[in-house]
Amino acid sequence: MDITKLLNTLGGKLPRPVARSLEAGMQKIPGVKQKLDAEYSRLLEELEPDLKPYRGKAPEFASLPQQGMSREEILDLMRRLDEPEEKRWKEGYASGAVYHGDQKHVEFINEIYALNSQSNPLHADLWPSTIKYEAEVVAMTADMLSAREARRIDPTAQVCGVVTSGGTESILMAMKTYRDRARKERGITRPEMVLPVTAHPAFDKAAQYFGIKPIRTPVGPDFRADVEAMEKAITKNTIVLVGSAPGYPHGIMDPIPEMSDLAHKRGIGFHTDACLGGFVLPWAEKLGYPVPVFDFRLPGVTSMSVDTHKYGYAAKGTSVVLYRNPELRRYQYFAATDWPGGLYASPSISGSRPGGLIAVCWAVMVKMGVDGYLEATRLIMKTAERIKQGINEIPELRILGDPLWIIAFTSDELDIYRVLDAMSGRGWSLNGLQYPPAVHIALTLRHTQPGVAERFLKDLRDSVDYVKKHPEERGGMAPVYGMAASLPFRGMVDGLLRRYLDLLYKV
Ligand SMILES: Cc1ncc(COP(=O)(O)O)c(C=O)c1O
Repeated sequence: MDITKLLNTLGGKLPRPVARSLEAGMQKIPGVKQKLDAEYSRLLEELEPDLKPYRGKAPEFASLPQQGMSREEILDLMRRLDEPEEKRWKEGYASGAVYHGDQKHVEFINEIYALNSQSNPLHADLWPSTIKYEAEVVAMTADMLSAREARRIDPTAQVCGVVTSGGTESILMAMKTYRDRARKERGITRPEMVLPVTAHPAFDKAAQYFGIKPIRTPVGPDFRADVEAMEKAITKNTIVLVGSAPGYPHGIMDPIPEMSDLAHKRGIGFHTDACLGGFVLPWAEKLGYPVPVFDFRLPGVTSMSVDTHKYGYAAKGTSVVLYRNPELRRYQYFAATDWPGGLYASPSISGSRPGGLIAVCWAVMVKMGVDGYLEATRLIMKTAERIKQGINEIPELRILGDPLWIIAFTSDELDIYRVLDAMSGRGWSLNGLQYPPAVHIALTLRHTQPGVAERFLKDLRDSVDYVKKHPEERGGMAPVYGMAASLPFRGMVDGLLRRYLDLLYKV
């Protein structure tokens, strides 16, 4: 890692914009780019065996088999691959990832999907059942997020929405909606969004895809958005402010009431990203946990993203994007009137959509009901209390901010990435964070199973002890995380990430 180390040392002493232009210049020096490429290749080669564990152990296809495999062979093979993977998520070793996962729940989902696997809401005439399911998923989600109360406070509020493929698509759609509205109603051609550094990268994706300039603002020492900084960042081109309920990195609620007041006062949109919290916070509030208002009860909240495929406990592949009124939602839609293929209209990015997943989402929501979601939330919040207490009892660790059920921790004495490595060695799949270096666990129903919280805390204590006793040890992912988090040359990290994606597609 010589060249990155050298650049790191040089660049670490420079302000970020200077480092960035230096990096761009350096990449043009003959030999530097090649050296970097060689270094990426070396780093990725080390990762490859972990990413491709089935090489040589299962049939591989870089082209279609001449004769199709038999059903039995395929099922046998898939069962064989699934078995070792299932253990980790089923037994609660993963942060987030699988949010419910009980055997009976999974079987129910599979049965519903089997009934609806051919359906596609693009063909409303063929599958009016799917149209009903989608409309009701949106209505139930809106109701859970205070649509009725919003209407009582503000008679123009008529909360509505669309089912999308996931949190990212919900966010993409909301940002496109604000861009198109601002262009039409305010003549804005250089739109900007203002959002705290902690908001999900899906907003950057939306910015890149739709030509919106993202203005990232700092968070305070409590990891909550700095509302004053957001106010200062607003210009005549600002189309939307964003807040998270809660944010992915630290599980912390942004001060949504203040942020939405600011947006309301300035006449711009406000999006609450409740991808993580949408199906937890309403119930946590009812259970008496301190949850600030984050939904359509706030007059400034004009849209929300809420993931049914996380704490809604549906199968992967659905989320809901909600709008304060149908006029706003209409900016999301796409319509083509002059195509020889006929009149065409579609609500979101995809054309054809998996009706089976919408049906599953509907079935899971009506199966869970209020009581089911309340109980699930009670279990998760109780487990979170136990885990926060346990982490607080480890003197080398420190929890970041005051989180609810997504808990980030760091260490002032140890390399937290080495603790992460030691946890991975014990089977855990936790998430590494940066700025500051930290690790988080997003608690799900998997962690509420008997003994899981205790096992997590024991493994965490053992991992901390191990790192303390072996300060010199190197290897694992810690140096990669460490390098990526501290390198001022972000273009290099960007290059590495793109090469990592290439690797995933290597057969
Ligand atoms: C707060 C938040 N917003 C958005 C997303 C994006 O969701 P998805 O991965 O479903 O696209 C996530 C994912 O973890 C998230 O935590």
